[in-house]
Amino acid sequence: MQHSGVLHLRNGGTSVVLDARDTPLPAIIWWGEDLGDLTDAELDDLATAARPQRVSGGIDEPVALTLVPQESSGWFGTPGLVGHRGGRGFSTRLETRDLDVTVHDGQITGVVVHAGDDEAALAADLELEVTSAGLFRQRATLTNLADDEYAVHALTLTFPLPAGADELGDTTGRHLRERSPQRRAFTVGTHLRESRRGRPGSDASLLLVAGRQGFGFERGLVHGVHVAWSGNHRLLAERTPTSEAFLSAGELLAPGEVTLGAGESYRTAWAIGSWGDGLDELAHRFHDDLRARPHHPRRPRPVTLNTWEAVYFDQSLERLSALAERAAAVGVERFVLDDGWFRGRRDDTAGLGDWYVDETVWPDGLGPLIDVVRGLGMEFGLWVEPEMVNLDSDLARAHPDWILRGRSELPVPGRQQHVLDLSRPDVQAYLLERLDALLTEYDIAYLKWDHNRDLLEPGSADDGRARVHETVQALYALLAELKARHPGLEIESCASGGARVDLGILEHTDRVWTSDTLDPIERLQIQRWTGLLLPPELMGAHLTTPTVHSTGRTVALDLSAGVALPGHYGIEWDLTTLDDAGLADVGAWVSLHKRYRDLLHSGVVMNADTDPSSDVRGVVSRRRDRALVTYTQVTTSVTYPPGRFTVPGLDPERRYTVRIVAGSVTGGPGQSPLGWAQRPITLTGRQLGHVGLQAPVLYPGRLVVLELTSQS
Ligand code: DGJ
Repeated sequence: MQHSGVLHLRNGGTSVVLDARDTPLPAIIWWGEDLGDLTDAELDDLATAARPQRVSGGIDEPVALTLVPQESSGWFGTPGLVGHRGGRGFSTRLETRDLDVTVHDGQITGVVVHAGDDEAALAADLELEVTSAGLFRQRATLTNLADDEYAVHALTLTFPLPAGADELGDTTGRHLRERSPQRRAFTVGTHLRESRRGRPGSDASLLLVAGRQGFGFERGLVHGVHVAWSGNHRLLAERTPTSEAFLSAGELLAPGEVTLGAGESYRTAWAIGSWGDGLDELAHRFHDDLRARPHHPRRPRPVTLNTWEAVYFDQSLERLSALAERAAAVGVERFVLDDGWFRGRRDDTAGLGDWYVDETVWPDGLGPLIDVVRGLGMEFGLWVEPEMVNLDSDLARAHPDWILRGRSELPVPGRQQHVLDLSRPDVQAYLLERLDALLTEYDIAYLKWDHNRDLLEPGSADDGRARVHETVQALYALLAELKARHPGLEIESCASGGARVDLGILEHTDRVWTSDTLDPIERLQIQRWTGLLLPPELMGAHLTTPTVHSTGRTVALDLSAGVALPGHYGIEWDLTTLDDAGLADVGAWVSLHKRYRDLLHSGVVMNADTDPSSDVRGVVSRRRDRALVTYTQVTTSVTYPPGRFTVPGLDPERRYTVRIVAGSVTGGPGQSPLGWAQRPITLTGRQLGHVGLQAPVLYPGRLVVLELTSQS
């Protein structure tokens, strides 16, 4: 396709305009709302309108924020490429040599910028694509054209921001409280979020978002970026004294970790940007994109019972068979045997690495338990943690050199365990053989793939080089090979709960374990912020034991079951402790989830911006003719009754009938009945979105589930 020097990429409601006229590399001058059909002349004017002036006290050319910002074109901010050849060649001048555009339905949706620098002896392909869901993604491939080595220290992709973004939002966290939001003013300087744990980590920023001050889920222009990578990474937001404001994203490389020999290349992970009027709209692009993948899980997500908090390491055929019977009775469809089934694993100090069934616990293997589970009509799933090893294991005793380390002594242990050097072919072969053997011998539909420690000094025992980059690639290859050998196998990405949640791992897995906390009050936040990236069907959400193990809080079943409702539903509770009435209550919630599962796992997620005492969220069907909404009383409200709440995301013209389908609005003494709970009422989407409903007076820690249906 012919184009002037200004390219307009358009897809899925997003425009990206690239000025490739006369800077060494193209510069993005717009990323956001679709700008409509533009002629070459209009694009030229748009690009000219965006050109800065030279200023006093500055350099003799206007500053250019290009795809890979370089000092050689007058850039003083964080550079896009950092590298050298034995200390020389630190400065590059990558220049566009050629552009290859991708066209769909007459519209440019992608471009590959082929760039080169003869003096530095480097070539780079910069890939930019706007997906059908309106995501904007970029990655780069750098090739060393010289005979001597080129050490890459950083190669990050740039996402310029529109005028007006003056507040930043990201997430931090810890074990049992991942994806905790934080905000700050977007002033001049760099806000840098790095992940150095060899996995994204509990504290990782899922996305780095810039927006107009006060942005929320419902409204406020926001742009955010995520790195689809399961190792170390960095996200930064930078505002320069020359008025550029941008986000940047890429892998965080250790010294020497990527060193290119003659002709060798380094390809970055995809850095993926989304935007929206409100965080919900930004999230919808990610959800739509994930759901469009050919391998996105499409069959109903099986309701799961995970044995961990039910029995911990106390495994036996008798105990687990009884649990399986109860699970089947309440409607569970998948039974997952957690940690403790393999050789020497009587507690968390030993056994990791020895992926053979423990003969002392399972004298006849796992077959008898799997027969019980399958006989009850459920799938069987198994926990593994293949990348790890305990020193107290046959594997560590036989192959001490298989353990990652940065020095001659081993790194500080975490959960009494160390990490295998998965970049080694012998380690890859061992793990593939063991896992393949288990999956071949047993009828296993699902692996819960855990990863329970942050990495420290992750280097090779052989050559002392840092190895996160290669081990992540080897992990992806191992997951892909297992899936190829065992079609239909589903895998969960778990890492001390939700410490490995990213779109790199989700190319090879089918859900994440959102957090180790099952406390629904904690989960409200964790699930909401994880939902910036993931649709509900990819987030494991389980009912808890009434007294939550991780927080000690005692919670009502309604709260636990209602907060988990939209996710990939499950139970993590010793159901053998329940009487018939208790089992019936759990069964009723499982049935409710199944009744709405299709809607919840295909619809559009809605989060209302409420004051912190309450929580309103839901899922609206694609046709906007149905919705399921939860109203949760998180704490007591300052005012009493709490006032009205609104339901955004509905069709303003449709009339919806509102019914309570679970939970109770019967509160404390002295309350009169709530009018709209006495009979079904019908309101338009506009009325629900603006006028709203009087919130029920609920005890804190209680919720109600509303169904909204529309005939028109
Ligand atoms: C951490 C996981 O997040 C838990 O769910 C459980 O599988 C334990 N590991 C088992 O060791």
